[in-house]
Amino acid sequence: MQIRISPSLLACDFLHLEEEVRRTEAAGAELLHCDVMDGVFVPNISFGFDIIRAVGTVSALPLDVHMMTCAPQKYIEALKTAGAAIVTVHNDIGLTEAEMIGVLDAIRAAGMIPSVSLRPKISAESVTALLPHADMVLVMTVEPGFGGQKFMADMLPKIAAVRRAANRLGRPVDIQVDGGINAENAARTAGAGANVFVVGTAAYRAPDMRALLDHVRRAAEAAFCPRP
Ligand code: DX5
Ligand code: ZN
Repeated sequence: MQIRISPSLLACDFLHLEEEVRRTEAAGAELLHCDVMDGVFVPNISFGFDIIRAVGTVSALPLDVHMMTCAPQKYIEALKTAGAAIVTVHNDIGLTEAEMIGVLDAIRAAGMIPSVSLRPKISAESVTALLPHADMVLVMTVEPGFGGQKFMADMLPKIAAVRRAANRLGRPVDIQVDGGINAENAARTAGAGANVFVVGTAAYRAPDMRALLDHVRRAAEAAFCPRP
C-alpha cells in the first residue's frame, strides 16, 4: 500500500494561508488535510467550504476533508463545489448504519472518495458494516477538536483490528491516523497497518517541513505491516 502524508492545515499560519499551502506542496506532501469543525460534534469551530475552495485554487494536492460535524450529509454538494477529493465523516453522528451507508454512497456518487472516521471511544467493530462502502478509515489518535494534542498509544490495537477487517474485504482500504503524529509514532501506527498519516503541529512547527515529512514517510515505510 502506498504511504501518504496529509499535513493538517489547522496547524498552519492562517495569516499567510497561500504561502503555507504552497510550502506544504513544495515539502512533498501527497494530500492536504482540511479539518472542518462545527462546534457541536466537537467543541471547536475551524473553517468551512469557502476557505477549502480558496486553498484548492493555489494547490494541485488532493484535498482530504475531515468533517468533524453532525450532519455532513447536508454538505455533499458544497464539498464537491469546494473541490474536496476525499471526504471523511464520523460514524457516531446519530445516524443509523443504513443512513451512514447512504452518506458514504452519496459521497462516492458525487465523485469523491468516501471515508469514515472513528473517534477514540468508538470501536473497530462499529465500522465493519460500513467498510464495503468506504475507501479509507480514519482512526483518531486524539480526541477530535484541537491540534497539538498528545498521541494516544492505546489506539494501536484498534488500528490493527481495522486493518484486519479491511484485509478480509479483499480490496485495498487506506487507514489514516490523525492526532499527535510524528516520525516515532507514525512508525508504530504503520506497524499496526496505517498507511496515511495526518501531520499537523509536527509539520508546521518543523524548521524544515520537507525533512520532517521525509522522515515520517521513511519511518512509516520501514515499519508498515499489511497484515498486523
Ligand atoms: C484534530 C484534527 C487533526 C489535527 C491534527 O481534531 O482532526 O487533523 O489538526 O493536528 P496535530 O498533528 O497537531 O495533532
Ligand atoms: Zn483531522
